[in-house]
Order: sequence, then structure tokens, then C-alpha cells
Amino acid sequence: MKILVTGGTGYIGSHTVVELHQAGYEVLIVDDLSNSNIRILDQIEAIIGKKPLFFQFDLCDEQMVKAFAEQNADISGVIHFAASKAVGESVEKPLKYYRNNFFSLINLLQAFNSRLNFVFSSSCTVYGQPDQLPVNESAPVKKAESPYGNTKQIAEEILAETCAVSPDLNVISLRYFNPVGAHKSALIGELPNGVPQNLVPFITQSAIGKRGPITVYGNDYNTPDGSAIRDYIHVVDLAKAHVAALKRMEEGRSEGNYEVFNVGTGKGSSVLEIIAAFESSTGEKLNYQIGPRREGDIEQIYGSVDKSAEKLGWKAELGIEEMMRSAWEWEKYIKANPFE
Ligand SMILES: NC(=O)c1ccc[n+]([C@@H]2O[C@H](COP(=O)([O-])OP(=O)(O)OC[C@H]3O[C@@H](n4cnc5c(N)ncnc54)[C@H](O)[C@@H]3O)[C@@H](O)[C@H]2O)c1
Repeated sequence: MKILVTGGTGYIGSHTVVELHQAGYEVLIVDDLSNSNIRILDQIEAIIGKKPLFFQFDLCDEQMVKAFAEQNADISGVIHFAASKAVGESVEKPLKYYRNNFFSLINLLQAFNSRLNFVFSSSCTVYGQPDQLPVNESAPVKKAESPYGNTKQIAEEILAETCAVSPDLNVISLRYFNPVGAHKSALIGELPNGVPQNLVPFITQSAIGKRGPITVYGNDYNTPDGSAIRDYIHVVDLAKAHVAALKRMEEGRSEGNYEVFNVGTGKGSSVLEIIAAFESSTGEKLNYQIGPRREGDIEQIYGSVDKSAEKLGWKAELGIEEMMRSAWEWEKYIKANPFE
């Protein structure tokens, strides 16, 4: 089975390429390297013993996508990671986000328009601050806090509406919670662009001396220790959920041709708990301070994973300690072996 992974040299994409290979799939990557490094291909090769087929182009280029689809008519599935993903930047440059995230999606759907299994990278941001926790897939989608969040909501609508008139198209949208950690080899991991906006890459960069103290944004939330709560998921578990989604579609187990699944652990961890887990699992002491709440941050979210367990047959296996340890091993690796 030939699978196209868009954004396959990125953080989640590279881990998914490894899991797909291990599950016996042949993988083709398309990435324009706008937010990743070509050396990731060597890193993947070092893990799986084979360099995946790689094509560098911008998926917003309609003619390129069309020609690629024609030349690779035997592709049976697409996992679409490629997107712009920085929430803050999306507020400053909304058109960049609407252009990149929609044109790439629409070009792919138009080019691979028949008999295709398609997995889309969605996000728990579609829930906003949910009314009930753990939040399940039937919870209402709340008004997006940013253009980035809006692209995920509208992309889900584009997919559902396209599926309604395309019986041969099968789509699963995976709503990721907070992906963290790195492959156990420490050969691939997250490569944030500039100052990390997410907690765990900031922690590892602070611990290695690349950044100053960590700021805990708010300790007055209505949570047990006052800091905000998220559902952190190990990126390797997340990668495996994509394999499970493809298998569900290939085996004809989908209920309707458009489905949505949460991909989290079902457990929330606070910022202060993550800091403590990092310290205890790595032996490193962190320097942190309490700051005011950050605009746009919600108080707490964690997902119900019952539907994913029952229907995808997938469940997260790796805990917080392993997430922290692997993120730290990767940070040390990249310091010792910088990409540029
Ligand atoms: N990392 C997270 O916290 C998170 C959470 C929820 C959802 N997501 C979604 O998951 C997907 C993957 O996220 P990630 O963290 O691996 O991001 P990433 O930036 O590491 O990977 C995305 C890859 O897509 C490529 N790309 C972007 N636009 C492209 C285009 N027009 N043509 C070709 N390649 C293009 C980039 O170069 C990059 O390699 C994204 O859709 C993101 O929105 C991520």
C-alpha cells in the first residue's frame, strides 16, 4: 500500500513515516521544507534503514499537485499534515494561514478525487473551552480563538461536505490534543522555529540553556494547583493513531465516509505537574516563575478517548515520564548534532 504523507519531514509527520514503514506501508513524502529540515530524511533512514521517497514542492501549487497525483495513481491513502501551525503568527498573518491551510487541502482533494483514504490533522482547539470534561467528539465546536484554529474548523467542514457528495472518498479527522516527546532513538523530534510557544519545547530549551526561565502563565485557574491543564500525548502514540485510522478505512470498518476521533490520553496534566515530571524523570532542575495568564489560553482540556479505543482500536501507551525523557534526549541530541 502506497501512502502519501504531506508534511512528512515535520514533527508529527516524521514520526508517522516511521510507524507507517514499520506497519509495512510504502511511504512517499511531499514537503516544501518551509518548517522542516531536509536532514530529517537521513534521520528517518537511520531509524528504518531506508530513505523514504521525497518530493519537495508547495502543495498550494495546484498544477504540481495535479501532476504528482497523475504520476502516482497507485497511492491509496493520504495523511495530510502539511499546514502552517503557529497560533500567534496566524493572528498577525491570517491570509498566510487561510491560503496555506486551505489551498493545500483543496488541491489534494481535487487531485486525488476518487477511491482514496484520507487522514486529516485536526486539533482539540475546535472545542475551545469545553462545557464538559473529558470532552468527547460530539461536543459543540466553539468559535475559534485564532485564524489557525479557524482553519481547522473550516477544514473539517470542507471535508465533511466533500465526503457527502463523494462516496468513494473516506476521511478521518483526528483531533490531536497536545503532542510532545520524541522517538526513543532521539534521532527525530520537534524542531521549533524561534521561541517555542508550547510548554515542553520551552522546558527542554530552558533546561539546556538556550532560553531563560520558564514562565507559568497563571496559577489562579480553577484547577487543583491553579495552573492550566492539557492532555499531553506522546508523538509516537499519536503517530500510531494514523496507522489505526488508515486500517479502519482500508478494512471498510468506517461508519459513514467522514469520521472524527479524539487523539489524546484522556488524562489532564497541569503545567506545574509537567515541570515536576520533567525534573523527576530527567534529574534536571528547572528554573521557573509564575506570570500572568496568557491571552487566548483556556483553563483546562482533556479528551474522552472512548470512541478511539472502541472504533479505532487505538489507545495511548506512553506516560508523561516517557514524554519528558524522550523530549530531553532529543534536545541533547540536537545540541550535540545541530542541523545547521
Ligand atoms: N504540533 C501540534 O501541537 C499540533 C496540534 C494539533 C494539530 N497539529 C497539526 O498537525 C499537523 C502537523 O503538525 P507538526 O507539529 O508536525 O507541524 P510541522 O510544522 O512540524 O510540520 C508541518 C510540515 O508541513 C510542511 N508544509 C507546510 N506547508 C506546506 C505546503 N504548502 N506544502 C508542502 N509542505 C508544507 C512544513 O515544511 C512542515 O515540514 C499540522 O497540520 C498541525 O496544524 C499540530
